[in-house]
Amino acid sequence: MDAKQLKVEAARAALAHVTDGMRLGIGSGTTAEAFVRLLADKVANGMTIIGVPTSERTASLCRELGVPLSTLDETPELDLTVDGADEVDADLTLIKGGGGALLREKIVAAASGRMIVIADATKMVDTLGRFPLPIEVNRFGLRATEIAIGAAALDLNLSGAVTLRMTDGQAFVTDGGHFILDASFGRIPDTRALSNALHAIPGVVEHGLFIGLASAAIIAGGDGIQVVHAARKPGSSTDHDVA
Ligand code: A5P
Repeated sequence: MDAKQLKVEAARAALAHVTDGMRLGIGSGTTAEAFVRLLADKVANGMTIIGVPTSERTASLCRELGVPLSTLDETPELDLTVDGADEVDADLTLIKGGGGALLREKIVAAASGRMIVIADATKMVDTLGRFPLPIEVNRFGLRATEIAIGAAALDLNLSGAVTLRMTDGQAFVTDGGHFILDASFGRIPDTRALSNALHAIPGVVEHGLFIGLASAAIIAGGDGIQVVHAARKPGSSTDHDVA
């Protein structure tokens, strides 16, 4: 099976966790698009869900395929979000934002009771950071923010190029009207420390490290589907059991 087929298999397995009446966060990217196509078939066959899209692109695909949509303002509490990822580690910390939708993706995931990540097996890593970390920044003071990000990283013994994302010769602009800096820091051993350091920089709107948001990851590989669960949180009574 090629990567495209594996993404469809992961999406299909996630669909088994969608039930009638759910308020569903709908992710962005190619794997999430495979999910939307399968979901649209279910909707066409009578399933009733309401979706909150994580990007304009996903919203437009949902409209095209007849998936009913709401906004997070109208539907601020969601049952489940299904979304892709650029990297996933064993703790279900993620790097997201390869498609530039990380801010809305994080807001929607945080508003959801559960988040299921869908991915092909190439996305599983021991330590996050091979994929450049997307950082969404305010356009104002871009250079100052870039310098501050470099300095914050250096304090954590991280270094590497921090590059303004471009598309067709122009700076890429997110759905929220911001720029993206892609930080090639390499391995990120302490994701929490980097997250805190980036959040302390005023020009940083959000970053693509998703910590403690995913309940489970459905990973499709040559050997079939693997479901990775989030570790039980201290004090919580149950895991998010989706298998
Ligand atoms: C979009 O901004 C991203 O977070 C995507 O979820 C991520 O890049 C995964 O995309 P693919 O499914 O296309 O690999």
